[in-house]
Amino acid sequence: MLRPHQKINSTQGRALRSDYCGALSSADIDREVSLCGWVDRRRDHGGVIFIDLRDRDGIVQVVFDPDTQENFALADKVRSEYVLQVVGKVRARSAGTVNRNMGTGEIEIYGLNLQILNTSETPPFPLDGHATVGEDVRLNYRYLDLRRSDMQKNLRFRSKVTNIMRNYLDSNGFLDIETPILTRATPEGARDYLVPSRTHDGKFFALPQSPQLFKQLLMVGGYDRYYQIARCFRDEDLRADRQPEFTQIDIETSFLNEEQIMGITEGMIRDLFAAMLQVDLGQFPRMPFSEAMEKYGSDKPDLRIPLQLVEVKDLMSEVEFKVFSGPAKDLKGRVTALNVPGAGEKLSRKQIDDYTKFVGIYGAKGLAYIKVNDVTDLEEGLQSPIVKHLPVEVRKAILERVGAQNGDIIFFGADSAKVVSEALGALRCKLGADLALYTSEWAPLWVVDFPMFEVTDNGGLTAAHHPFTSPSCSVEDLAANPAAALSRAYDMVLNGTELGGGSIRIHDQSLQQAVFGILGITEAQQREKFGFLLDALRYGAPPHGGLAFGLDRLIMLMTKSDSIRDVIAFPKTQSAACLMTDAPGVVELAQLRELHIRLHTKEKEKNSAS
Ligand code: AMO
Ligand code: AMP
Repeated sequence: MLRPHQKINSTQGRALRSDYCGALSSADIDREVSLCGWVDRRRDHGGVIFIDLRDRDGIVQVVFDPDTQENFALADKVRSEYVLQVVGKVRARSAGTVNRNMGTGEIEIYGLNLQILNTSETPPFPLDGHATVGEDVRLNYRYLDLRRSDMQKNLRFRSKVTNIMRNYLDSNGFLDIETPILTRATPEGARDYLVPSRTHDGKFFALPQSPQLFKQLLMVGGYDRYYQIARCFRDEDLRADRQPEFTQIDIETSFLNEEQIMGITEGMIRDLFAAMLQVDLGQFPRMPFSEAMEKYGSDKPDLRIPLQLVEVKDLMSEVEFKVFSGPAKDLKGRVTALNVPGAGEKLSRKQIDDYTKFVGIYGAKGLAYIKVNDVTDLEEGLQSPIVKHLPVEVRKAILERVGAQNGDIIFFGADSAKVVSEALGALRCKLGADLALYTSEWAPLWVVDFPMFEVTDNGGLTAAHHPFTSPSCSVEDLAANPAAALSRAYDMVLNGTELGGGSIRIHDQSLQQAVFGILGITEAQQREKFGFLLDALRYGAPPHGGLAFGLDRLIMLMTKSDSIRDVIAFPKTQSAACLMTDAPGVVELAQLRELHIRLHTKEKEKNSAS
């Protein structure tokens, strides 16, 4: 980055620019500088023209007065977003005109020479009024949106972060190695983006969902500490923290166990927060997956919020209220309470109705509650639509178990374990945000002891992380009861977001085949899809493991941005399109023919004949 006073060397005569606008300060007073940038604002103050000149570092005020007649006349012509070169002298602003809201607010540039390098049409949205324009407009004209200080700040921040991570990994002996983009499918649980092959009729490349298999093969190749800032592609339903094309800090190591891998990567994130935000994240706590689900209803608990789910299933199996006793008697059911201290008085009926609708998104059929007005009066002191269905001793046991006090409200979820965990887990986070319950700014942790497999809706098994993850039990135990097996996977979670995940991998060929078998992948399919991996595991594959961080999510959290799109230069929309380039686009029939593709959809009509 160009620093204040750092002149650009040019072999072709005098450089257009000596300094960045935003980098100037009172230390530069009396220097003659040459600046290049865009007109943020032009004001005519009767005889004096002020131009706020902007570049990627910030804004500085330039003043033209009629003494420099030619420049003054030119300055009169400039409009927003014109591109200028200004040569001028840095001077202190007079005491009354210092602007404390501006990084360069103590100084201004007295303009000596002005050149208009290019004109601009009036932008389709005012760059300082972006908040009121739709995101579609911003994404359509992203090159203008990128000129805004928020975007500049985020992208500069992102560049520094990758720099710090590279240095950290480099100084810990990691090699930066690239892996292919045109490849075979890597199962990470999403759909693949496919690329048809011209030279292989009827065959397709898949864009990598992650470099998973290549990084494992690099370990077999002996490059025992690898990293890559890797682009990944996943055709999945998008949310605020997901993009179809995103970036991982991808890491793999040989001969290290999970403790050591977590140690190195935790160190990287800790150093990063210290360097960028002057925050000490401390030692990250560890939490088994089962505890995370039980207490927080989520495998990525937000530990800034001091609320916990409390199991009350055992208290409910005999009550006459079927809504509770049904799930309580069901092996797969869950009945859970969430006590919110002091919120009984704060929450109106309307708010409770809104929360009931909110949990409905997650499949909950209702949201029973008890407002605790007087904890000692189990008849009159409890305000609730369900309390009449609960015997007094059950009421008492609930209040004791959740530690209720006067003024609290207890919410209940009763349904399948999945619905209750998701609904009350999400409610917990929403209440945390709505009632400003956060007890810390940052709450990192490791979630460990994940199950090896998840049961799918049709009763089959899928890999909870990916199928290359090592179980923590023997192959015999795995085969005997796969649904109960735990894996050697770990996730790093920050403020309720999964920042990264990884595992110790399988390096034994027969174990890998056994896991494929449990996942219902036949031997023929194993050969066809993963033959190269199975072969490699027979040639001295070392014990290995690693992890990948989602860079975009990390930057989103660190910059406190609302959307992942605000930390990516050219992001895609929720429907996975690029509004600026209008991608994906139609292609000509001739091109399709070359790729051996015939369209069946209406798109065919849209393609221009050729
Ligand atoms: P996983 O699928 O958990 O693991 O991905 C690792 C991290 O990548 C980020 N991430 C995303 N970010 C933005 N948009 C997306 N669509 C998206 N999907 C994932 C998350 C996530 O934690 N190969 C394994 C890693 C390993 O085992 O080493 C993998 O890709 O922050
Ligand atoms: P009902 O008996 O349907 O009138 O419901 C009584 C109360 O229980 C209401 O406050 C509902 O919101 C709530 N409720 C209904 N179903 C559930 C459920 N599955 N879990 C939690 N509360 C529920």
